[in-house]
Amino acid sequence: MNLDIAVLAGDGIGPEVVDQAQKVSNAIAKKYGHTINWTPALTGAAAIDAVGNPYPDETHQICMNADAVLFGAIGLPRFDNDPSNPVRPEQGLLAMRKKLGLYANIRPTLVFPSLLHKSPLRQELIENADFVCIRELTGGIYFGDKGRDESRNTAYDHCVYTREEVERIIRLAYSYAMQRNKKLTIVDKANVLETSRLWREVGQGLEKEYPEVKTEYLLVDAAAMRIIQWPEGFDVMVTENMFGDILTDEASVISGSMGLMPSASIGLHTSVFEPIHGSYPQATGLNIANPIGTVLSAAMMFEYAFKLMDEAQEIKDVVNKSLAEGVVTEDIAGKDKAYGTSEVGDWLAAQIK
Ligand code: IPM
Ligand code: MN
Repeated sequence: MNLDIAVLAGDGIGPEVVDQAQKVSNAIAKKYGHTINWTPALTGAAAIDAVGNPYPDETHQICMNADAVLFGAIGLPRFDNDPSNPVRPEQGLLAMRKKLGLYANIRPTLVFPSLLHKSPLRQELIENADFVCIRELTGGIYFGDKGRDESRNTAYDHCVYTREEVERIIRLAYSYAMQRNKKLTIVDKANVLETSRLWREVGQGLEKEYPEVKTEYLLVDAAAMRIIQWPEGFDVMVTENMFGDILTDEASVISGSMGLMPSASIGLHTSVFEPIHGSYPQATGLNIANPIGTVLSAAMMFEYAFKLMDEAQEIKDVVNKSLAEGVVTEDIAGKDKAYGTSEVGDWLAAQIK
């Protein structure tokens, strides 16, 4: 197959981790007889510095024309520390999600057998944990009206959902539940928020169409608690944009390091694959960042965007091997026994023959 992949490496450690995922993807392509055309494009702070826009039109066109987008990370402290700055790298990510219509963010919570002891949770709590969070990605408080009313010294962010947006994402979650263990948890705050009551109403309407799936509703505060107390109780979880942002960071550390977790964003146009971690600016250029989240995002890309299941599986297998054999970065190994970011990438690629 000919695979056209846009590469939006972004800021901080983005370029370093994306490099490793490209090495591994190239090795897979070589082995299975595919040709990958990588097209780099600017995003984030790098794009602001170059052209004053964190998601330039040219980048959008490259993404639209690609079969998939591999994304690194964006954000730099010089923007975080200046809240008055009107142009921010994160706006690039949000603009990309909106313009590509990426309404669903699929974030699996994976537990690796060889890393059980690295989890902040007790081994017996997590060894059977395996769930996926489906986060709504183009609606809610992230995209509602926001602003300041200086005369009253107030700021506001509106949370808005249409029935169609909610139905679309809950249906997608049901389709995942049907392929997995047939349990769906719809997370909301229906005791307080009107948008959550809409979510619950839509969920209750759809339940009947999926009688094989056991549907449960859980308030977001209780969900945060349950992720720690009984993670194996979840199969598929679906929730709105900001709750999903927060809960997936929480869930990501169950594995022992957030640097391991991949994600896929899918929707109307080209799908985007990115690690769930941020740009980790303190580590930029130090060759210490964990590339596995991005490498596993590439595995998701082979699976979701190209339907190349054997290729995806082989990437997951070599990642498991690296974890089992201790070919890992310092977030997992500690400083003494750590491999560098690019050494992990080289090792993984070399395993694929
Ligand atoms: C994520 C990130 C983004 C989000 C930020 C960088 C805008 O935290 O992808 O989870 O909040 O969606
Ligand atoms: Mn986040």
